[in-house]
Amino acid sequence: MKLIAKGNTAEIYEYGNNLVCKLFYSHYPAEYIEHEFRNTAMAWTLGIRTPRAHKLVMEGDRQGIVYDRISGEMLSQKMAGQSEPVCNMWMDRFVGFHKQLLQHRADEAISYKDFLKVFATDAETLAEINALDDGNAFIHGDYHLNNVMVDEHENVVLIDMMNVCRGPALYDVARTYFLLHDNSRIQSQYLAKLGYSIKDIRPYLDVIQIIRD
Ligand SMILES: Nc1ncnc2c1ncn2[C@@H]1O[C@H](COP(=O)(O)OP(=O)(O)OP(=O)(O)O)[C@@H](O)[C@H]1O
Ligand SMILES: [Mg+2]
Repeated sequence: MKLIAKGNTAEIYEYGNNLVCKLFYSHYPAEYIEHEFRNTAMAWTLGIRTPRAHKLVMEGDRQGIVYDRISGEMLSQKMAGQSEPVCNMWMDRFVGFHKQLLQHRADEAISYKDFLKVFATDAETLAEINALDDGNAFIHGDYHLNNVMVDEHENVVLIDMMNVCRGPALYDVARTYFLLHDNSRIQSQYLAKLGYSIKDIRPYLDVIQIIRD
């Protein structure tokens, strides 16, 4: 199989003509992989533009998911070295796509609070999580410029569904704001284009930051 990309958890190989195999590194927990598979199926059912997850496979001691192949590039690659107006146009697409995703309800997904609690190590953090709002929006949980691809028709396509859950839209906005911390210009552009301020996302951001540390 020919390697086409590498992520933190897996390598992506060509798999026949129109498919890829996301082959997770050895000993990556099977339940997480099955979780990503189910989340992708759910997103597909909701009508979200994402590659279809076809099946779970084993290659030696490594488990993989076979996906439709997106021929194109990640949004981060589309923007690299581009002029200000071009980057601005892609940021509009990134923000527009996020708004659209957040309109979906994800009643079947796990609650973002239960997801966060797995990483909470003390009673104070647990209390902070419990105090946050509930919600039913589709939360990607890892919405950043490497998890949005642009296909050959210039459609934006969502990938990497490991962290999908349900919750209030502002939580996912806070997550993305946090994930964009490497580039403070893009980070503030993102929030401004969505029409929010730091104050709006503060309670979520606090918890996200505690859990990261
Ligand atoms: N269906 C696909 N078709 C084509 N390329 C893909 C596809 N899925 C993933 N890729 C490529 O592989 C890269 C890694 O995929 P993905 O984000 O799913 O892996 P990951 O290990 O979960 O990533 P991360 O580093 O975000 O944890 C993507 O950024 C993209 O370039
Ligand atoms: Mg990824």
